[in-house]
Amino acid sequence: MNLDEAIRGRRSVRKYTDVPVPDDVIKDIIEAGLWAPSACNRQGSAFIIINEREKFDELLKGGSAAFLKNVNQAILVLYDNRTDNLEYRDHIQSACAAIQNMLLKAYELGVGTCWINNIPNKKKLKKIFNIPWNYEPVALISMGYIDYKPVTCKRKKTVEDCVSYNTFGLKDTVKKDKKYLSLKIKRVLRKIYKAVPGKKLLLKFAGKYEKKFDN
Ligand SMILES: Cc1cc2nc3c(=O)[nH]c(=O)nc-3n(C[C@H](O)[C@H](O)[C@H](O)COP(=O)(O)O)c2cc1C
Repeated sequence: MNLDEAIRGRRSVRKYTDVPVPDDVIKDIIEAGLWAPSACNRQGSAFIIINEREKFDELLKGGSAAFLKNVNQAILVLYDNRTDNLEYRDHIQSACAAIQNMLLKAYELGVGTCWINNIPNKKKLKKIFNIPWNYEPVALISMGYIDYKPVTCKRKKTVEDCVSYNTFGLKDTVKKDKKYLSLKIKRVLRKIYKAVPGKKLLLKFAGKYEKKFDN
């Protein structure tokens, strides 16, 4: 598979067959992550392979993407947070570079994946997975085989829409108006939702408002 084909053909996949992805395939995917660039060449990723139902149930109980109900395999990506460049969160950027490599490799190997941030807050994740203080959870990657071919997703912008030379020149700048306030409110609500314990009732309610995607 050539690079362009991988970059353009990869899609987020949220429904998988019951056929498990073998451990050596998962490890190939993780190895692709290890080849990503990392700030100061720290190579500080760590990966927790999740394949026990109880762990998925705990993720769901703590407030996660509802489709995890039907997922049997995932990788939790962590990164060592001992960086002095917190302004640019270079540990998160390094983890994201690894994640994208992993998604592309998985696609090449015929494995469907979805990058997930709708997961419990970091404090809860650390408890569920016994994560030490210096590792920060960055994202969950769900995975499995698929029995359909996802449709290519059109881009919302062209290169010309996003590029300017030497100084910021895009026309679609947004004023800090009421919408910004509603975003602030959403951020607070999300924080509260992820923090409250025992949210059985809330989960049903939140499920209704979870963003729906096209597959
Ligand atoms: C940082 C990040 C967080 C994401 N979180 C979620 C998530 O919580 N739930 C989900 O279903 N998809 C999630 N996605 C997948 C996006 O919805 C998906 O990439 C987007 O809709 C474009 O579709 P495509 O990946 O098929 O091109 C996430 C993607 C990124 C990069």
